[in-house]
Amino acid sequence: MPFDLEATTRPNIRKLIPYSSAREEFKGSASIYLDANENSLGSPLTKWYNRYPDPLQMAVKEKISAIKAIPVQNIFLGNGSDEAIDILFRAFCEPGMDNVIVCPPTYGMYEVSANINNVAVKKVSLRPDFQLDLEALEEAIDLNTRIIWLCSPNNPTGNSLHRPDIEMILNNFDGIVVIDEAYINFSRQRSFIPELNEYPNLVILQTLSKAWGLAALRIGMAFASEGIIGIMNRIKPPYNISQAAQELALQALDHVDEVNDMIRILVEERGKLSTALLQLPVVLKIYPSDANFLLVKTREASRLYNYLAENGTVVRNRSNVTLCEDCLRITVGTPAENITLVKQLEEFARTAPR
Ligand SMILES: Cc1ncc(COP(=O)(O)O)c(C=O)c1O
Repeated sequence: MPFDLEATTRPNIRKLIPYSSAREEFKGSASIYLDANENSLGSPLTKWYNRYPDPLQMAVKEKISAIKAIPVQNIFLGNGSDEAIDILFRAFCEPGMDNVIVCPPTYGMYEVSANINNVAVKKVSLRPDFQLDLEALEEAIDLNTRIIWLCSPNNPTGNSLHRPDIEMILNNFDGIVVIDEAYINFSRQRSFIPELNEYPNLVILQTLSKAWGLAALRIGMAFASEGIIGIMNRIKPPYNISQAAQELALQALDHVDEVNDMIRILVEERGKLSTALLQLPVVLKIYPSDANFLLVKTREASRLYNYLAENGTVVRNRSNVTLCEDCLRITVGTPAENITLVKQLEEFARTAPR
């Protein structure tokens, strides 16, 4: 069955009359604004912070549109990609009835968001090589499966999923396929953005939190058909990205070259860190990474984790995660931080009591 957006959307969302904000009802420019119950006197900060921001963040979207070569109508901005994740559940999954598929080990918010929305989660584990198990996926899909969540490059494993596998799912599943590309800028693989026109059921998530270095601003992006973006916009809170975040994002988006330099350095450091860690007897394996972190299999992850924490370095202990037994997820730091980390691990091997 081909993808049918109308049928995939929850009936209450189809019928929803969205909130119409003051900034949407009047779009021109006026000299007196008495329509939104703002503080007419101003703000303790810069004057214009007394005014509500653009609900659809058009200026920011225009810059993203130019950088990503995608029309503004195909862009949704959320308060982090985490907001986009939640909105996708609310748009397409009927609580207590529908289900989604996640492929662990993967980013935890897909499951948390499902739980918050009372949507069942079917887990189809990645294979031991961290690639998709297509047969198990096919078996898991049922008539109530609305979204398949894919993360590529995947967190916490760091690898990209095989493109033909993703294409197979996009071509054969009649629900929504989300590809979370939070780490795409660090990857050898291409984004799926150029393929958006081919797949009406595709939603791509990206974020300014990783390569762009703007995690504090909380700006996540979803790219999809105009229809899907329209539905997401109807559900989001009217002013979901603050004026301050929009202004700072506008400034930052002029610095593509600087961001590319950071990406280059981080990718180089990822290679150096990987080589250095492999020299250590406590390190058993480093999984290939297309992201700004390494999944490192160690002899004794929890002891290592504690030792590093006691010495002021915090990494992520993933030992309790399926297929990641005895693994630490280590973000690539600055060159100096990476040297310190390696020294601390050398020190652990020399001094930590058994
Ligand atoms: C795969 C993945 N997706 C999304 C996010 C959340 O991004 P944001 O900061 O845009 O909410 C993260 C954060 O770690 C992530 O690892």
